[in-house]
Amino acid sequence: MSYRITSFDQYEKEYKESVENPEAFWAEVAGHFSWQKPWEKVLEWNFDQPDIKWFKGAKLNITENCLDRHLASRGNKLALIWEPNDPKERFIRYTYRELHQKVCQMANVMKRNGIQKGDRVCLYMPMIPELMFATLACARIGAVHSVVFAGFSAQALADRITDSNCKMVVTTDGSYRGAKEVPIKRVVDEALEDCESVQKVVVVERTNWGVALQEGRDVFYHEEVKLVSDDCPAEPMDAEDMLFILYTSGSTGKPKGVVHTCGGYMVYAGYSFQNVFQYDESDIFWCTADIGWITGHSYIVYGPLLNGATTLMFEGVPTYPDAGRFWQVCDKHSVNQFYTAPTAIRSLMAAGDEHVMSYSLNSLRVIGSVGEPINEEAWHWYNIHVGKERCPVVDTWWQTETGGIMISALGEHGPTKPSHAGYPLPGVQPVLLNNEGKEITENEVEGYLAIKFPWPSMIRTTYGDHDRCRNTYFSHYKGYYFTGDGARRDEHGMYRIIGRVDDVINVSGHRFGTAEIENAINADPHVAESAVVGYPHAIKGQGIYAYVICKKSPDNFDNLRAEITETVKQQIGPIAKPDKIQFVSGLPKTRSGKIMRRILRKVAEGEPDKLGDTSTLLDPKIVEEIVEGAL
Ligand code: WT7
Repeated sequence: MSYRITSFDQYEKEYKESVENPEAFWAEVAGHFSWQKPWEKVLEWNFDQPDIKWFKGAKLNITENCLDRHLASRGNKLALIWEPNDPKERFIRYTYRELHQKVCQMANVMKRNGIQKGDRVCLYMPMIPELMFATLACARIGAVHSVVFAGFSAQALADRITDSNCKMVVTTDGSYRGAKEVPIKRVVDEALEDCESVQKVVVVERTNWGVALQEGRDVFYHEEVKLVSDDCPAEPMDAEDMLFILYTSGSTGKPKGVVHTCGGYMVYAGYSFQNVFQYDESDIFWCTADIGWITGHSYIVYGPLLNGATTLMFEGVPTYPDAGRFWQVCDKHSVNQFYTAPTAIRSLMAAGDEHVMSYSLNSLRVIGSVGEPINEEAWHWYNIHVGKERCPVVDTWWQTETGGIMISALGEHGPTKPSHAGYPLPGVQPVLLNNEGKEITENEVEGYLAIKFPWPSMIRTTYGDHDRCRNTYFSHYKGYYFTGDGARRDEHGMYRIIGRVDDVINVSGHRFGTAEIENAINADPHVAESAVVGYPHAIKGQGIYAYVICKKSPDNFDNLRAEITETVKQQIGPIAKPDKIQFVSGLPKTRSGKIMRRILRKVAEGEPDKLGDTSTLLDPKIVEEIVEGAL
């Protein structure tokens, strides 16, 4: 495809053009996609509302771009390779023609069960092919998908279903993850006790446990699919119609539904995939994320398929049946591009080099990292043991809100440097801001990372609450999209992402608001108040450290710890479990009642000698108690 950049010189030239004339640049890129009706205007925007429209007036369907347009030239090419949790179970492959058929069938099952354009459909499923079918089926008929990671609890699922008023849930009976079997349908049943909007539940059988269906509400996919045709026309969508909602945590309250729209998301997901991974026609691409996160949306489903690529989807976990599984799968399917998270790299590194040494990894050409800062030790291990020092490591910085990769090397084109994401992709204009919100233009500086010009796949709104979108991203610094990250620019202008500067912690590449975890802990009847901070964790990047005040002194601290952990599991899911719980009699608060998290962070980081000024505290004595009791 001709939007492919093939040298660093070309990157520099195109970057310059993209900044000088963004509309001409993106019109050229968009011209490589198929549109049912051309746009009237490439871009209309202001960051005050915010109000952002890309390709206004255009009509398209993203699944025609992912599927139909490949049928003539790539009908028999593999679109999807599915690798099951258990290496002894057979993998499954789908050509573009087969995937097209599966998507049309799933779309017809949705339609048969009352789904129309604009309806929201929640997908709560493990990593099986039907999750990809259902995602694309929604897009096919103009329904809005909201994929919820199947590790979230019933409560978290219910919150997300209710927030966007989903009419349908697609799920499975159960799932296999490593040695565990997870009762997925049971979680859905529990969640739906409180969700009035859901009229139908479509159950795909994965574990064949013979789960019970609720009369009038639940249907089995394997029965429904017999009743529909293989043919489903693609719904014409406006470029700015909603494509999907994806929930993510912020520094305050409940998770918010990030909204992405059809045209711009398509253009940027396709463009960034091709360039960052330097995908060639016969390559096999593997992104290890779950489709429940933005990484899976953009780089398992949409980005690869938009480029006619072969994408691999893996049901299992990196350590099952042993810590060599990733590498075994790379060799088994001759993977050319491999994309994973630093937390996975660190855990496999800790498991010992012998797990990677026995695999050739000859097919690999580009290896990628995403989700959190990759520390130098992990970067080098990845480069040496996985990339064998011949594959560029692309450290890709982006967010749920950005829809696609924003800062990264483009495969081998572009310098790479440990722990540095590098340079922005064409069309992306990052800046560093100081405390006063002024741009810092020099190099060798640190600041708040913001973006000063729109890009096609940027967040449009937060579902049902546009003010929240404005307040979270566009109000701190007027005229900029604020990322919430701090970053450093080195002497060559390369970016190094330092981490969040707000009350968000990044645990194994998953984002949580400290307030969100505190709310979960406070749901425990024994808890009066709590405060949560992140601390450096060797594998997870950040661990969760909770300071908890009990209503009355517990009889057994360990039991209460276990109970609080269980409460968090129920409220959010096992991924949000606190690593450490310290019981305290009070929290360091200012006279206005604000918790001084800086102090709690220092104690959690094991640096109680660096607390700084504590004189403005209401009760400075509490600090001594907290320092003494630190875990
Ligand atoms: C936050 C976004 C984007 C998909 C996965 C996470 C952190 C992401 C990097 C990177 C350093 C990174 C940032 C960002 N982050 N990629 N390459 N280097 N930090 O998506 O849940 O929306 O989280 O992840 O802090 O703001 P997300």
